[in-house]
Amino acid sequence: MQRLKHLVITLDGPAGAGKSTIAKCLAKRLGISYLDTGAMYRALTLKALRLKVNLEDEEALAVLAQKTVIAFTEVSDSSLHVTLDGEDVAEAIRSSEVTNNTFYIARAGKVRELMVRWQQAIGQAHSIVTDGRDQGTVAFPKATYKFYVDANFEERVGRRMRELEEAGKTVDFEELKKDMQERDHKDFTRAVGPLKKADDAITIDSTYTNVEQTVEMIIKYIK
Ligand code: C5P
Repeated sequence: MQRLKHLVITLDGPAGAGKSTIAKCLAKRLGISYLDTGAMYRALTLKALRLKVNLEDEEALAVLAQKTVIAFTEVSDSSLHVTLDGEDVAEAIRSSEVTNNTFYIARAGKVRELMVRWQQAIGQAHSIVTDGRDQGTVAFPKATYKFYVDANFEERVGRRMRELEEAGKTVDFEELKKDMQERDHKDFTRAVGPLKKADDAITIDSTYTNVEQTVEMIIKYIK
């Protein structure tokens, strides 16, 4: 595909819809960078947990965020790993403890402001495919292309389950279902940066398509 001008492509949607795999694959196809904004929230959650910062204290979380450097480095297989103050935390941020506590960070308005500023700086410097919850609505309202990636709930739980199992984790389907229901609810209802389809985003239903097919669907919209 012919390399276009500066591109910002946003992929928002709920957990387990396949956004990150799709975004990674799409970025590779287009020869541009992939920005995993969920990893940023997860990295700060990890730091707050390690330092035992009171997760209910939004001011303390904002101070912590200001003293934190979250970046992405390319590793040998050309995938990007998130670093927290220089430490590769790509694996540590996927623990269930981090997953289940990220909402504290995600609902803190001042933390979100900072995260969005960091994301915008990356989007200004590079052409990106960025995935998250608020990328098309808050971080990049003028993105070149906006997509809202969704899939039915049972399918999303199944995908997350397979992902965790592949990472060698044992999971209880009913428990995971409950966790994801709660996470969805928190993502949709928080006061700042909630998960929301941008009015001008194209909805992509990935329930019945695999990654390659979904990426093809998206590429058709990108001229
Ligand atoms: O996408 P992922 O599941 O890794 O995101 C982890 C959590 O980070 C989400 O549940 C959501 O609460 C939060 N998040 C967010 N805004 C983003 C990306 C993720 O609030 N742009």
